[in-house]
Amino acid sequence: MKESITITDNRSGESIEIPIEDGGVDSGPWTKFLPGLWFKDEGFAATAVTNSSITYIDGGAGQLEYRGYPIEDLASKSTFTEVAYLLVHGELPNSESLDDWNSKLAEHAQLDAVQNENLLNCFSSHSHPMGMFTAGLAALSTLYPDAKDVEDPETRQKHVLNAIAKVSTLASSAAAYRNGYTPGKPNEELSYVENFLSMTFSTSDKVFEPNPTFVKALDQLFILHADHEQNCSTTAVRVVGSSHADPYSALSAGSAALSGPRHGGANEAVLNMLDDIGTFENVNSFVDSVKNGEGRLMGFGHRVYKNYDPRAQIIKDTAHEIFELTGKNPKLDIALKLEEAALEDDYFVSRKLYPNVDFYSGLIYQAMGFPVEMFTVLFAVARTAGWISHWDEMLSRNTRIARPRQLYIGSETRNFISIEDR
Ligand code: CMC
Repeated sequence: MKESITITDNRSGESIEIPIEDGGVDSGPWTKFLPGLWFKDEGFAATAVTNSSITYIDGGAGQLEYRGYPIEDLASKSTFTEVAYLLVHGELPNSESLDDWNSKLAEHAQLDAVQNENLLNCFSSHSHPMGMFTAGLAALSTLYPDAKDVEDPETRQKHVLNAIAKVSTLASSAAAYRNGYTPGKPNEELSYVENFLSMTFSTSDKVFEPNPTFVKALDQLFILHADHEQNCSTTAVRVVGSSHADPYSALSAGSAALSGPRHGGANEAVLNMLDDIGTFENVNSFVDSVKNGEGRLMGFGHRVYKNYDPRAQIIKDTAHEIFELTGKNPKLDIALKLEEAALEDDYFVSRKLYPNVDFYSGLIYQAMGFPVEMFTVLFAVARTAGWISHWDEMLSRNTRIARPRQLYIGSETRNFISIEDR
């Protein structure tokens, strides 16, 4: 079998053969052969923006791997910081490099106290924490002028670590501020996730001591959310990063993209949807309303997974472990009934719509005591490891600036009409 495709321009009868490499065809020969003829692909449904060695997804098989390691193994045998190291460096750390990585993350977790306090004071207890988190990332860009030297690998590595270290403090300080508490300081003795929970839930007079089962579950959720190849927010980070903006500005763009309900904001939207459905008896009529085009079933569907989302399988099991401890979240029954109704319905089956990572994660976050508005921030803290790994990978290859083309369908050239004559 020949690993190539042939394109024939029927206007001229000329053909070109383009080799298939790594499962794709390069646009270079295409654009040379057909100058000015663009490949229309809204939503990038058929466009590979890069070669990447970070994350592999087989959507048909429901397979997800980070650097070649199956997500199931990482979720059950690894820790979030170990996975972050793997994403960034390409290999699992040995115990010495992991200790070093963890101590450096702890060392760099502290935010600039004055800037953070001033920034938080711009917000109120009603401010959405995703907006606060996004603003916090953009504000970090003002503190590190050296981060603009994006072509220097050592500088990049320094800020890769700094970003992963700082985001947990940024997120927890937003949560604490909204609850009316002075944001806590990171404690270098605690693990990444313990520290995050402690800073989020400690009050002025009581230091929160996280339950080890919660720590394990949140650590696992962070692993599951750490990367997902060229999703909407990673693409936003890459597009901004391709202009050689500093990494914090690029991450801030990623966070803004993640906040939307079709992406990371879906975990919050799922809980709001379950609240709207209210009771078990309303599930079928809700499913009918979705089929009538009155809204989407949040937490369902995925561009790449067309069979099942392996992250959702793992999360469903974790949800049961957490509920054994906290008592069942009453919304679980509605969610289970909703899943059952959708999976039996031809509308969802024919469109290959299955529960995704966001369908059950919010139920766990809520059982742990997180307010609904914080759910997407938790996703963002974990995804920072993926965003920054893709940013570094892109810059290490001196990728061109992201600059798509368009097919213009507006007015032809026309004469300007002065305002009196309009
Ligand atoms: N509920 C009802 N119908 C849906 C849904 C849904 N959740 N998702 C897709 N469809 C329908 C859609 O209306 C369309 O139907 P038709 O062919 O009749 O026009 C068909 O399925 C294909 O949908 P699409 O919008 O072309 O699919 P997409 O690949 O562009 O969108 C998605 C993927 C995840 C944005 C979409 O499935 C969705 O909006 N899901 C709900 C939001 C959600 O849960 N997002 C989290 C995604 S996973 C976490 C992450 O990585 O962000």
